[in-house]
This record gives sequence, C-alpha cells and structure tokens, in this order.
Amino acid sequence: MIASRVLFVCLGNICRSPLAESVARKRLAEAGLDVSVASCGTGGWHAGEGADPRMVAAARVAGHDLSGHRARQLRARDFADYDLLLAMDRDNLRELRKLAATSLQAERAALFLEWTDAAPPLEFPDPWYGDAAGFEASVQLAERGVAGLIERLRDASR
Ligand code: 4NP
Repeated sequence: MIASRVLFVCLGNICRSPLAESVARKRLAEAGLDVSVASCGTGGWHAGEGADPRMVAAARVAGHDLSGHRARQLRARDFADYDLLLAMDRDNLRELRKLAATSLQAERAALFLEWTDAAPPLEFPDPWYGDAAGFEASVQLAERGVAGLIERLRDASR
C-alpha cells in the first residue's frame, strides 16, 4: 500500500477535513482497504470543538456521521504518524510544508483533489462563509476525492 495512514488537513478542522475523513473511513471500509484516516486543521481556533453544525447536517443527509468529531490542530509529529497528508487548499499545503522537518516529509504532503483526481477544482472551496448549498456541494466533492483516493490506492497495490 502506498499509504496506510492518511491525514486530511484544512484550516479549522470543523468543515472540509472532518467531512473528508468521515467519507474516506466509510468508503475505504466498503472497499476493503486497510487504511486509517484522521483529520486536523492548520489553525487552532476551533480545537476541541465539534464539526460545524451546517457540515454535520449536510453530511448526515448523505449518510455520514460527523457527530463524534473533535477538532485538533496540526502538529509536527503528524509527519511521523501519517504517510500521506492531504491538504484541502494551497494555503493548507503551504502551512503543512512549513512544518515538515525534511524534504522527504514535505513530499508526503499533497493537494487532496489534485492527488486523488486531478480534475478541476483542484482546491476544495471553504464552505464556512457560504450557504447550505455550499455544504451540500462539499459532500459531493469529498465523495469524488475519496473515490479517486481509493482508485489510486488500489492501482498502487495491484
Ligand atoms: P474548514 O473551514 O477549514 O473547512 O474547517 C473553516 C472553519 C473555520 C474557519 C475557517 C474555515 N475560521 O476562520 O474560523
């Protein structure tokens, strides 16, 4: 397996990355792939909080349960604990790479939708400032990214 521990990274760890984590956990299990997933935020403002209620609601409609999520901030040790660190947008990726201790570690960080699919949009838009439609769109985008992730992990293990 090219990655057995995947960390999804966004800014606040209350919208995009907890969603991606939850979608990935479910779809990876369905696919029979033994990959552990987690998420965090580059910022610490929401550490300890649950996911945004708007995100929880949109995810629930699609069958994903974010109710147990607790936000946490990215830490340097994440580069030792995870072998693939997937950033939601380029700002997140920049912050991730700043924290990498070596260039080898930095190479484990990538843009989620670029690594998994490479079709536009390559950046996962932040739904936080928008309306409910943005949160619904986030669920679709997370499903698409995770489908690409599974395909790539499968291809690599063939
Ligand atoms: P996320 O969304 O990075 O997808 O969790 C955000 C959550 C909170 C903030 C920004 C983005 N904030 O500025 O507090």
